[in-house]
Amino acid sequence: MNRCVIMFAAILSMFAGVVIALPQDASRFFNKSEMMNIGVYYYPEAWPEDQWARDIGNIRKLGLEFVHMGEFAWAFMEPEEGRYSFEWLEKNVRYSAEQGLKVVLCTPTATPPIWLVRAHPEVLMIDSTGRRMNHGSREHACWSVPAYRDYAAKVIAELAKRFGNNPAVWGWQIDNELSHYDKDFCYCSFCQASFRRWLKQRYGSIDRLNRDWGNAFWSQIYQTFDQIDIPNQMELVQQINPHAQMDFQLWFAEDAAAYIRFQAEILRKYSRNQWITTNFMAMHSQIYPPLSGKDLDTMTWTTYPVHGNLNDGPLGFRLGDGAAFSFMHDFMRSINGHQGLMELQPGQVNWGAVNPRPYPGAIHMWIMRSFAAGAEMVCTYRYRQPLYGGELYHNGLVETDGVTPSVGGKEYAEAMKDILLLRRNYRPDLREPAEYAARRTGFLYRIENRWDIDNHKQTERWDTMQHLLKYYKALKSLGCPVDVITEEKDFSRYPFLVAPAYQLVDPALVRRWSDYVQAGGNLMLSCRTGQKDRRGFLWEGPWAAPILDLIGASIPSYDLLPAPYSGTVRAGAKTYPWNVWGESLEPRPGTTPLASYGDQFYSGNAGAVSRKLGKGTVTYIGVDSVGGALEKDLLREAYRSAGRAVRDFDNQFLVDWRDGFWVAANFSEKKQSAPLSEGAKILTGTKDVPPGGVTIWIEP
Ligand code: GAL
Ligand code: ZN
Repeated sequence: MNRCVIMFAAILSMFAGVVIALPQDASRFFNKSEMMNIGVYYYPEAWPEDQWARDIGNIRKLGLEFVHMGEFAWAFMEPEEGRYSFEWLEKNVRYSAEQGLKVVLCTPTATPPIWLVRAHPEVLMIDSTGRRMNHGSREHACWSVPAYRDYAAKVIAELAKRFGNNPAVWGWQIDNELSHYDKDFCYCSFCQASFRRWLKQRYGSIDRLNRDWGNAFWSQIYQTFDQIDIPNQMELVQQINPHAQMDFQLWFAEDAAAYIRFQAEILRKYSRNQWITTNFMAMHSQIYPPLSGKDLDTMTWTTYPVHGNLNDGPLGFRLGDGAAFSFMHDFMRSINGHQGLMELQPGQVNWGAVNPRPYPGAIHMWIMRSFAAGAEMVCTYRYRQPLYGGELYHNGLVETDGVTPSVGGKEYAEAMKDILLLRRNYRPDLREPAEYAARRTGFLYRIENRWDIDNHKQTERWDTMQHLLKYYKALKSLGCPVDVITEEKDFSRYPFLVAPAYQLVDPALVRRWSDYVQAGGNLMLSCRTGQKDRRGFLWEGPWAAPILDLIGASIPSYDLLPAPYSGTVRAGAKTYPWNVWGESLEPRPGTTPLASYGDQFYSGNAGAVSRKLGKGTVTYIGVDSVGGALEKDLLREAYRSAGRAVRDFDNQFLVDWRDGFWVAANFSEKKQSAPLSEGAKILTGTKDVPPGGVTIWIEP
């Protein structure tokens, strides 16, 4: 929004007596020369009052710069309907200010108090089995219920009136990981009604809905919008209607975004000079952060890299998946330019299948990798290890005695020292190295593709995120800076654009891709791309019809192999195994086959092709290789033939440049060598980066 518009809106709002929620430039809250701020969650309401000042003092002694409070505290903020109590919080904000700590406050809506749910049981969500959830945990309220919104609005307004002008309060977090966790959706009558209204708005007439949902199939025809129930597999004998399901998911995501906006508007009305965010689960499949990009000042998120998942290599279960971690940063950062971690694992957690100890140094590495990936803040969950409640075994920055720094506490303190070192060495005049910038890659990501594929995978061996990550890992081993972007963004900023498994397209998007390539861009697509229209219908025409002219090939067939079978595909002198998805491509004249199948009855058919178009190139990789080595080799070739220098880093060794500093983080099990040039000055770490290690340097 430009200045005039902001002025105009502000004047208008004065006259109308209403406050218009204006997006603000968040740069003023996150000072570039401070690099990044580090903080921690503290729940004063759970600890004896005589320990508050001590605990906050000790947070400062660890070197941290902000404290996060007030989340989940509705029963303390409004112990009885209409009786608000904030003195306990004011005291803690004051203690924090006395220590020079900034404060992040939270709206408490993830945990409605018992008096509210007993007086209004309709605020409790209903899961897919028809069961009403109950008091006793969190995220059990349905945010579509008007009564719930009324109560939420009141407590948020009271909170914001109290703290909105408090200079110690730096920013606000809305709710907590807004979602219903594994319950996914609410099926209550309010959601039902709201979904119907949304459909009416979207389709106008029931005939259009019948057409776009393909309701001629199995006689699903509706006569009126009121007959439509939320699609629910638990109530269906066989396959759900995928088009109805996708609409429902979109409605749900938009409704969640509207609820975030609703809270943000209340906060903005009473707060001055404070930023607003919510803590997303970046890759949660039903809540879609980009829908809130215009409503929030910074996009923050939560991440727990180690909880018993194996990840790559023998130490992956202790180091986390550096690629997935980095992908989420690149996604959240690209939404509105500001991002940070609101929750980062402090040690062992309690909720994984197995909860192993993170590798020594891993926590410090996650923090510094977050810096490299553009985080403006990192907050860890949590300061004290709980002694009671559902998260008993969850580590904090101090041991169970409440005072002795834990392993995580020490690693946070070390990271804070590193940040101070970077501040001292910051040189605003340093520009992004040209060779690095020349590899900048846009990575197109759209949640509808993921919904549609996951609703109908066609092979149980398919994993959408793993497919995307194969491409992402390849890009990171070539040393590319990556922005994970949505379609609204301008493609022309990127010399390379990757859109893996981009299943849903329309002619307008394909035209944009084609213009991008004509103008000199290098586009890389993978299997499944363009198979369907935006509703999720196949095309009446050849398979993936709209993209065929662009890729210069047709896709007459695809194969899927059941376990334990694998096929092979050859490129150059190498042979690669594949088993998930293998398309046979028929290149047209002028298109070069890059890989061909080495076995099965279609041995010799092309599995990947590329072509020149205008000033650019299009590469289409129709096969998903085991481990992604083929994708990596073909991508490397594409960058080389476009005349760009690339690196050759091992998987899970991540190297990026930010604000004058090169940062190498080693999520692999092997020692890795930091790519220093002659005369580079190491600020922290060593040339050989051990597993879990970080090296930061400045080039001469
Ligand atoms: C997060 C959640 C926190 C806490 C944490 C435990 O997902 O937002 O409130 O439960 O997990 O690791
Ligand atoms: Zn509901």
